[in-house]
Amino acid sequence: MGTDANRLVEAAEAAREHAYARYSGYRVGAALIDEHGDLHTGCNVENAAYPLGSCAEAGAISAMVAAGGTRIVAIAVAGGSDDVGICTPCGGCRQRIREFADAHTKIYARADDSGWSEFTIEELLPRSFTLL
Ligand code: THU
Repeated sequence: MGTDANRLVEAAEAAREHAYARYSGYRVGAALIDEHGDLHTGCNVENAAYPLGSCAEAGAISAMVAAGGTRIVAIAVAGGSDDVGICTPCGGCRQRIREFADAHTKIYARADDSGWSEFTIEELLPRSFTLL
């Protein structure tokens, strides 16, 4: 992985430390780099009213949009566990990423104690819905 990717995965791991996963115990951090080279992070934030919880990727994307970013150059998702394996983005987050991704967007995912795997949005969400 290059310097940018290392910066990204470290930021995702750091955001994961702040995850509020009180109900599932499943902590996730996400970090992305936008078209300006700016870094944005998010973590999952759960709620006693379970459906109101939000994913790490959603937080990072909201932070990007609020800061003026419009494209995801690369995104890293740090989650998972030895039990359940790699934490690839959930279905809803694949669609969220799709909105701001293109064929070159790098999507990195990792589980505990394993290396990082790299995907494209086409691999994770083939024949996706878009209005763009
Ligand atoms: N979660 C994420 O933050 N991102 C994903 O892509 C998968 C799931 C969170 C949601 C919930 O707080 C916890 O992981 C367990 O599903």
